[in-house]
Amino acid sequence: MAFNLLNKDIDTLTCPALVVFSKSSSQKDKLAKVTHSELHKALLPSLEEKTITGKHQECVVFREFSFKGFRHIIVVGLGKENEISHESVRQSMASAYEAIKSLNLTEAAIHFDGITAGKKDAADFAKATAEGLILTSYVFNELMSGKKDAKEINVHVVSKMGNDKTVKAAFNEGAILGSVVNFSRRLGDMPGNLMTPTILANHAVEGAKGVANLKVTVWDKARIKKEKMGGLLGVSNGSDQEPRFIIMEYKGAAASKKPVCFVGKGLTFDCGGISIKPGAGMEEMKFDMCGGANVIGTLLAIAKLKLKVNAVGLVASTENLINGSATKPGDVHTARNGKTFEVNNTDAEGRLILADALSYATELEPQMIVDAATLTGAMVIALGNTHTGYFTRNAALKTKVEKAAGESGEWVWNMPLTDFHVKDMKGTYADLSNISSGKGAGSATAAAFLEQFVGEGIPWAHFDIAGTGWAVGNRLPYCSKKGASGAMIRTFVEIAKQYT
Ligand code: BES
Ligand code: ZN
Ligand code: ZN
Repeated sequence: MAFNLLNKDIDTLTCPALVVFSKSSSQKDKLAKVTHSELHKALLPSLEEKTITGKHQECVVFREFSFKGFRHIIVVGLGKENEISHESVRQSMASAYEAIKSLNLTEAAIHFDGITAGKKDAADFAKATAEGLILTSYVFNELMSGKKDAKEINVHVVSKMGNDKTVKAAFNEGAILGSVVNFSRRLGDMPGNLMTPTILANHAVEGAKGVANLKVTVWDKARIKKEKMGGLLGVSNGSDQEPRFIIMEYKGAAASKKPVCFVGKGLTFDCGGISIKPGAGMEEMKFDMCGGANVIGTLLAIAKLKLKVNAVGLVASTENLINGSATKPGDVHTARNGKTFEVNNTDAEGRLILADALSYATELEPQMIVDAATLTGAMVIALGNTHTGYFTRNAALKTKVEKAAGESGEWVWNMPLTDFHVKDMKGTYADLSNISSGKGAGSATAAAFLEQFVGEGIPWAHFDIAGTGWAVGNRLPYCSKKGASGAMIRTFVEIAKQYT
């Protein structure tokens, strides 16, 4: 899909299709309202018959309607006027895009001023419009023969405010965020054989090419060993693929300014190791690198948006497989910060590779660290695929996270992390055990394990995206049904903005 913001009066445009909007009736009006006044009159019969109700995401297509320069008219519901938000606009754009696609069109116009004529909301809604369109346009079919040359769709977002500086900037920002999320989704959707740690690292390098002030360094196995990353090495023992440690550094502020640090779990396939997972659904464990992919996306977005902040992205990447050298239950490894841990379940591997990444992040003396990881099945049980559970003991960072999620529209839920959880992770033969000695709270005890590798006093938040990293399309119409979602990229960018 290609799309642009067009500064034009919609009535002077010629295009095969026009998307207009409808709003649900308020108490005083009996009928829903189509937000283009002439079309409202022309569509009165459909409004009276309640074919158009304005309900959020309702989509009514009038083929060959012949209105001004348009052949087809698509009416997308926005819901009640006072319930329109940037998130509902993002979702409405999914309906608009799907309708354009289903008409088999290559060009369509969207009557943006029908969403809002108010300058106040225009920037927010322009950003959401760009995001909604580009996120919905994502398809992953490159591994299917014969599906490669799908028709390119050109969408014009038409607005009388199209030349307004803030509206234009917001639209641009939405376009950058959307395309970066799609970049990360593709990394997630790639199967394990085509997305090894080496390939993931290469994509980080490729993605950063030509992006100003963004440097990518990749450590190979020998370097990882030299750097004493015993967790990452220990997990990679069972695999023929070499691990990688990816460092992305963006300099957008004075060198004296401490960085904000993003850490991701880049487990390109998790079979569980010797504590092997059941076969059913194991193929989904190709998504176990989504935290890493989304951290790569976050750094790309921060750099492309030229945020005035110094940011570092760290991705620990390996497979968790089984061979004669694989880590065995009971084995003890030493993390980069010197702490030792018993591996009592080789399937609890994400925390082991993050231990080294968080230790390294700590050495950078950052302003804060946030991490994203598909860390625990328990998170899926707790919150399903609506909310990303996050853990932090820092009140100021919690406020920033909530504000960021409010801006991005991504749902997050604050989870408990206490000294009780820390106690449950004590080892018998080493400092720590990688599984809890207690029952339940598996996500919190995993977070407590991670906390042992974060330097004291550094604000830190851990985001468990096990439930939201992929297959959220039943909740969000701009996400694919089964594929990677790009969860938390937009929220992480909003967090970074608060440090500019
Ligand atoms: N990658 C999994 C977590 C996961 C499971 C994410 C299902 C998404 C869906 C992780 O490495 C894992 O296997 N964790 C174990 C930990 C347990 C052994 C303490 C789990 O959650 O079962
Ligand atoms: Zn695992
Ligand atoms: Zn895992």
